[in-house]
Amino acid sequence: MRHKIVAGNWKMNKTLEEAQALTSEIMGMVADEVNGSVKVVLCVPFPYLVTIKNQLGANATIFVGAQNASEHDSGAYTGETSVAMIKSVGVPYVIIGHSERRQYFGEDAKLLATKVNKVLAGGLTPIFCCGEPLEIRENGTHESLVKQQVEESLFHLSANELKKVVIAYEPVWAIGTGKTASSQQAEDMHAVIRKHLASKYGAEVSESISILYGGSVKSDNAKELFSQPNVDGGLVGGASLKSREFVEIVKAI
Ligand code: 13P
Repeated sequence: MRHKIVAGNWKMNKTLEEAQALTSEIMGMVADEVNGSVKVVLCVPFPYLVTIKNQLGANATIFVGAQNASEHDSGAYTGETSVAMIKSVGVPYVIIGHSERRQYFGEDAKLLATKVNKVLAGGLTPIFCCGEPLEIRENGTHESLVKQQVEESLFHLSANELKKVVIAYEPVWAIGTGKTASSQQAEDMHAVIRKHLASKYGAEVSESISILYGGSVKSDNAKELFSQPNVDGGLVGGASLKSREFVEIVKAI
């Protein structure tokens, strides 16, 4: 059985006080709503990781995640945060390769492969993002691009390593645009990714990988998206910044 995961990516939003208030509201609402088969991950800005982690305490459903990690172990990399640092504060998840990192910070497939290695070597779970820009969707090469993204950054892993990766498919044209992929478009791509994983690692491994959908997930489309057989949850941006909306999405799973 694959894990069902709803992760909120807060991106560069909220003050500490607002982050604590949002966490407290989510904790209050999720407690009653979710059974043990769903994990909720709050990917908060770096300065709040320790505070939010402590606030969550021993919560068995809600976990904290980082939004990025350095490809380096330590040293003279001003402004960077290593996997060892993230691990040392007890944070179990790290988003790697978000399209905003690819687009604004020039992160390419090779760099992301190194980052995935570092996160896994630290014993943490990477949430590896892939997804095509609009022009690629329009010219019809989206499936081959996403397969290539997965291949270039993950296919060097052993089967045991791959099993620890969570994949998030986030079509760039659906991020922050209010224009979500249809549930059929999401399902089609998730099936393509799973089949591609199976071609290299076999069906058993590929069936064990959680593949999340991201891109304008909202309370009113979450149920339909999550009902697809290959959609194992969501990576939620804007809608994760409002407690009620986010918890409705969690409930939809
Ligand atoms: P939105 O939900 O705001 O479209 O963002 C999706 C995303 O980028 C999550 O990582």
